[in-house]
Amino acid sequence: DAEGYTHFMRKEIHEQPGAVERALGGRLDERFHTAHLGGLNLDAREARGIRRVKILGCGSAYYAGQVGAQLIEELARIPADAEPASEFRYRNPVVEPDTLYIAVSQSGETYDTLVAVQELRRKGGRVLGVVNAVGSAIARECDGGVYLHAGPEIAVASTKAYTSQAVVFALLALHLGRIRDLSPSDGRRICEGLRRLPGQIEEILKQEDRIAALAADLATYRSMLFIGRVRGWPIARESAQKLKEVSYVHAEAYPSSELKHGPLALVNPELPTVAIVPDDDLLDKNQSTLGEIRARRGRVLTVGHRELGDDSLVVPKSEPELDPILLTIPLQLLAYHAAVALGNDVDKPRNLAKSVTVE
Ligand code: F6R
Repeated sequence: DAEGYTHFMRKEIHEQPGAVERALGGRLDERFHTAHLGGLNLDAREARGIRRVKILGCGSAYYAGQVGAQLIEELARIPADAEPASEFRYRNPVVEPDTLYIAVSQSGETYDTLVAVQELRRKGGRVLGVVNAVGSAIARECDGGVYLHAGPEIAVASTKAYTSQAVVFALLALHLGRIRDLSPSDGRRICEGLRRLPGQIEEILKQEDRIAALAADLATYRSMLFIGRVRGWPIARESAQKLKEVSYVHAEAYPSSELKHGPLALVNPELPTVAIVPDDDLLDKNQSTLGEIRARRGRVLTVGHRELGDDSLVVPKSEPELDPILLTIPLQLLAYHAAVALGNDVDKPRNLAKSVTVE
């Protein structure tokens, strides 16, 4: 029973302010504007020797990993990228001693991610885990890591674990940044931004009724496009996947910049677009993309920091690096309410299992 909530997915979406508090719990250092992560098993000298970061996970954990790679590259200035663990394990990757590998998993039992970690360890790679389930198989295989402390996640569609993963990556990026090139003032800015997140998530959750009405309307379409640039790109991917999983409405995510290289051909009044448009240095570019879609009479729902047309979801402003954490939340509610409007089994979508422990 979902303890007073209609579904576990809704309960877990609403648990996010607390989940973020717990992910941050005791980890921010206000004096030196950094983060302390007890279980990393990585001293400052080793951390300064990292030349590359490779993040591995599946599904939403992989998208959180993409958010993490961007945060690490931005704040710690270490080249970083994310790859699906399920692909990595089949392609005989080059394992480098000065690369830090990070495995991300809510359950800690995803077989593809576990095998990727085992293969890395066999070849001498150093692997950290960003895991929710304490003592799980992946947590045990890693050299060190950070627990999310998000609490149990029951709904198949990941919500609070994704958000906590992104928060943990922000802490890790802050930590690595502050022993490398990140300035004290930028460190302080990120610390303060992280502290504000739980209250800002509460603000977003108050918009639920409006999002539910929009979702019921959008659920009548057969297909949707999700677009975003740079920080908006993993948000678009995660949000499209969430919609597909629980509502079974087809959704495709694209970088906004790629629209004119192909998918613009799809745009017509029958294909709505969800556009991630934060108030950042890419706002002008994003607005011109919206113009291209509207010129083809495509309906647009924007998610950002201001009203940008008929349908806009406005979230509180955060530090730009932390946008992926807040901007995803209204779209979790959108996916949830689309699924409810369509009468689906929200917590147990067809064909899916909570943790994929097989090949
Ligand atoms: C998405 C979802 C899946 C999982 C993926 C990884 O909502 O639930 O994509 O994120 O199967 O699972 P974990 O994080 O347990 O390794």
